Amino acid sequence: MANRVQSELRKKLLDAFSNNQEEFLSGQALADLVGCSRTAVWKHIEELRKEGFELEAVRRKGYKIIKTPERVTADEIRLGLKTEFMGRHIHSEDVVDSTQKVAHRLVFEGASEGTIIIAEEQLSGRGRMDRKWHSPKYTGIWMSVILRPNLPPAKAPQLTLITAVAVVQAIEEMTGMTPEIKWPNDILLNGKKVTGILTEMQADADRIQSIIIGIGINVNQQLEDYPEELRPIATSLAIEYGKKLERAELIKVLLVKLEKLYSLYLDQGFYPIKLLWESYAISIGKNITARTITGSISGQALGITDDGVLMIEDSHGIVHHVYSADIEL
Ligand code: BTN
Repeated sequence: MANRVQSELRKKLLDAFSNNQEEFLSGQALADLVGCSRTAVWKHIEELRKEGFELEAVRRKGYKIIKTPERVTADEIRLGLKTEFMGRHIHSEDVVDSTQKVAHRLVFEGASEGTIIIAEEQLSGRGRMDRKWHSPKYTGIWMSVILRPNLPPAKAPQLTLITAVAVVQAIEEMTGMTPEIKWPNDILLNGKKVTGILTEMQADADRIQSIIIGIGINVNQQLEDYPEELRPIATSLAIEYGKKLERAELIKVLLVKLEKLYSLYLDQGFYPIKLLWESYAISIGKNITARTITGSISGQALGITDDGVLMIEDSHGIVHHVYSADIEL
């Protein structure tokens, strides 16, 4: 309880700073905005300093945040976050096995919709089809998002596609570069993978209980940070954009996009998302090969169904529905 009160106060304090970014705020003004004593304000400011925030303090004027920490902290994400529920609860850790694993535990403990889990490093980051996900320290965004939509389990793949669109739009806003989506959920820049998405679900027979969407974005790695075998196929935003990006800023933009698209989807269904997804998809209209566990299908990618299933028309005019595969272009 005491912790919850402290973290609510911290959120209010950060909101006060983000709503008045150009101004100094006096201890009294902060205490009034937050609804606590000046001593409590001072204690929170000391905590922020310990986290790596730099605050300028000027006599008779008050405090102003002038620099946020190098590592991504929950408070930095809260500072200026413009969402209603996405990322409003943040669980952040330095090192974890996998943020997915932490998210599963939090789901079990009743975490609310929009809760995010972030880590600076994952020791056993995991990808689709049981692959490993390389997640070195301080370079990327390793994040899981918990959603609790009231939908049947068959709709779960649509949430992956929503997330892919949100990531593309966030990268577009931060860098001006438009990545492409390779079905179902690889995000590529110049033909190399910059983001992977892994969706895991807990469901009853007719209803989703919760969905955990794992998002891995390669942000600030340089080529030499990748193991030899990944260099031909993986890239980072910094490599493609030519300079490093503020990871906390990208997380905030992504959370805004995700909340907007998810709300649009709950309101209007999958169709508007499908159009957006297809506009970013690399493979639509092209000849591709889908390698599934039962064999390969080659032909022209026609698009996706309303359930997010890939349609491929082979040379005999037969349309195949592909649910899970690796795609070769
Ligand atoms: C893929 O392309 O195979 C999906 C990769 C998903 C990686 C992310 S990083 C955050 C979350 N935690 C994990 O262990 N995996 C996902």
